[in-house]
Amino acid sequence: MIKLTVNGQPRDVEVAGDTPLLWVLRDSLGLTGTKYGCGMSLCGACTVHVDGAPTRSCITPVESVAGKAITTIEGLSPDRSHPVQKAWMEIDVPQCGYCQSGQIMSAVALLKQNPKPSDADIDAAMSGNICRCGTYPRIRKAIHKAAAGASSQTGTEAG
Ligand code: FES
Ligand code: FES
Repeated sequence: MIKLTVNGQPRDVEVAGDTPLLWVLRDSLGLTGTKYGCGMSLCGACTVHVDGAPTRSCITPVESVAGKAITTIEGLSPDRSHPVQKAWMEIDVPQCGYCQSGQIMSAVALLKQNPKPSDADIDAAMSGNICRCGTYPRIRKAIHKAAAGASSQTGTEAG
């Protein structure tokens, strides 16, 4: 039994300790907003926060995050009202959407560290999140919008 805290809730899972956190989130807990892209820490689709830090859940053994605060895309807000989610919708960022929960989780982490990032700051922080649809210009625009409109609220996520 491994005890986790996911989106502020205690969750117990019966899995091997070396099971990737991504599979626990998706298969054991039904939190399918976090996506599998490469499984090798190369694309960022599986990004969640562990104690606030963006983390590739595909290569994170679940036993290594026991007792830590795990936040997934579902935990950012109950109603898509997180400033970054709102900016994403206002700019209409996604194309196919597959990479976007990872993009948003990385963007939220960036804005917590740096509430007013430059284009270069954004490109550096987001470089590990690949979008095969090429939505990078809209991602950058949405991050600037979130920063301008509601940077004071970007720390409201659970965990
Ligand atoms: S699925 Fe984890 S980085 Fe690609
Ligand atoms: S929106 Fe399609 S991969 Fe990013």
